[in-house]
Amino acid sequence: MADSIQKVGVIGAGQMGNGVAHVAALAGYSVILHDVSTERLKEAMATINGNLARQVARNVITEDARKTALGRITAADAMSGLSDCDIVLESAVEKEEVKREIFHELCTVLKPEALIGSNTSSISITRLASSTDRPERFIGIHFMNPVPVMELVELIRGIATDDATFETAKAFVTSLGKQIAVAEDFPAFIVNRILLPMINEAIYTLYEGVGNVEAIDAAMRLGAHHPMGPLELADFIGLDTCLSIMQVLHEGLADSKYRPCPLLVKYVEAGWLGRKTSRGFYDYRGDKPVPTR
Ligand SMILES: NC(=O)c1ccc[n+]([C@@H]2O[C@H](COP(=O)([O-])OP(=O)(O)OC[C@H]3O[C@@H](n4cnc5c(N)ncnc54)[C@H](O)[C@@H]3O)[C@@H](O)[C@H]2O)c1
Repeated sequence: MADSIQKVGVIGAGQMGNGVAHVAALAGYSVILHDVSTERLKEAMATINGNLARQVARNVITEDARKTALGRITAADAMSGLSDCDIVLESAVEKEEVKREIFHELCTVLKPEALIGSNTSSISITRLASSTDRPERFIGIHFMNPVPVMELVELIRGIATDDATFETAKAFVTSLGKQIAVAEDFPAFIVNRILLPMINEAIYTLYEGVGNVEAIDAAMRLGAHHPMGPLELADFIGLDTCLSIMQVLHEGLADSKYRPCPLLVKYVEAGWLGRKTSRGFYDYRGDKPVPTR
């Protein structure tokens, strides 16, 4: 465990937040998980339990470790539940105004010496840090999905992030058993700067009728040896998150090559956000996924 960190706060109990809570609890930290939705909090606790049980079934962890980890996670309806955390990891929706409001409220309750990390996929760490009272103790800690499985975490310093924060964040991420890639604070950092334009291009390929959903995914799985096709992966990430990242790239780099595909916009407007809403480029409501185009 990182020396100066014992208690970890997580804001946002969606697919990423519950994964971050899961790995932090397994690594021995006490975790307070907060979300505006009590429903999401309940679902997250059930998901974490299910994912830990799967790790027991695969002999990755013991039954004792599952019970202990689960016992280390407390759900908090109110932001004030995070007040004495040593680090708070924000993992709420990929919307800058929502994140800014969260940081504003968090800073009114969080002890002054605590660090704040954001799991944003694309938004400027420097800009997010400026909405807090502690830009020097603010850092981007970008986990990959699914958190318990993926090895990498990107660390992104804002312009004001101090060395002590960077070193503590590094020790904390290492204690979770993850590898680190350090990225500069430019739109979407490293992984999503490369990955999301590829996914957006796959959606253009569908939009222009070059191939259907199955053909595009099979082409990239079998032809480029990607473990998942790009449209399957987009559904897995969440189409709202994919669109937000493309918008940040488009606005932040002012280059038309990052223009979000109109078909991606249409799916998001329909509320077809991928797996999390049971419909996206595939329909997940039956026994097996069925392409929607
Ligand atoms: N999906 C991915 O593959 C992925 C990978 C890495 C990082 N991220 C980033 O992680 C963050 C979360 O993404 P996700 O996929 O878990 O999204 P999600 O939609 O599954 O979850 C978002 C959660 O945020 C909660 N929330 C919304 N407003 C809130 C508020 N004001 N206070 C507290 N909670 C609030 C929602 O209730 C929801 O539970 C985003 O910044 C995203 O870019 C996502």
